[in-house]
Amino acid sequence: MGTSLTIISRKGGVGRTFISVNLAIAIATMGKKVLLIDGNIEQPNVGLAMNIDSSEATIHHYLAGKKELDEVISKYDGIDVIYGDIEFQSLSDIDTGKFNDMIKKLIDEYDVIVIDSPSGSNTIFAPLQSQENALVVVTPNILSVVDGMRAKNISKKLGSKIVGVVVNNTAQKKYLTNENIEFALNSKVLVEIPYEEKVETSLAMGEPLILNYPNTTVAKKIINLAHILIGVADK
Ligand SMILES: Nc1ncnc2c1ncn2[C@@H]1O[C@H](COP(=O)(O)OP(=O)(O)OP(=O)(O)O)[C@@H](O)[C@H]1O
Ligand SMILES: [Mg+2]
Repeated sequence: MGTSLTIISRKGGVGRTFISVNLAIAIATMGKKVLLIDGNIEQPNVGLAMNIDSSEATIHHYLAGKKELDEVISKYDGIDVIYGDIEFQSLSDIDTGKFNDMIKKLIDEYDVIVIDSPSGSNTIFAPLQSQENALVVVTPNILSVVDGMRAKNISKKLGSKIVGVVVNNTAQKKYLTNENIEFALNSKVLVEIPYEEKVETSLAMGEPLILNYPNTTVAKKIINLAHILIGVADK
């Protein structure tokens, strides 16, 4: 039986999608069978980070009952991916209740399911936040960390285990130390990921940094994170 890992924060733009995509690929390079799911239902953008025009067979089609599960799973460089519909407009067709069933159906087929999640949080996305493990992403400032606390508390209430914290974009002046962050979130900082211009270059090219610039410090940090997490998941 595999494990699921949802990448969470309440604040937008902290790097959840960047980390989800690159971490999923990093875990796959360790010989694990990985599925990446775009769980940012209202603003899906995993496909953009991978230069995939995802509008034909997506999680939205599955949740709306328009496609079967096997029809919405795509292949991408060593991982399977369920993209979101880039043209998605309305939640009215979406049955979010199908999300947990989907994970239950898939969990035995993969070693790790990495789930990108939306910022903010409300009941529509409760199924997402109730998944087995959650990784909190923050940037080193008070607003982000307080939102990280909120995300963590919601996920915990819904039954997730918080496996740790990623402090992203650390080139900004650090207003909080890792000790401050660990105290606030009552969870360990697993890795610090610095600001790296090539993250944006990779996004513009639609090529994940870990494939495009594997020798950067950021790529190495993500590989390191994958090793730590797989150690956690295997225990
Ligand atoms: N370590 C980093 N160095 C430089 N740029 C970064 C880094 N991490 C993320 N970014 C950039 O910051 C922006 C936001 O990242 P991303 O889209 O992954 O965040 P998000 O939390 O998923 O945001 P959203 O709330 O829109 O879903 C992107 O343009 C991304 O390329
Ligand atoms: Mg995102």
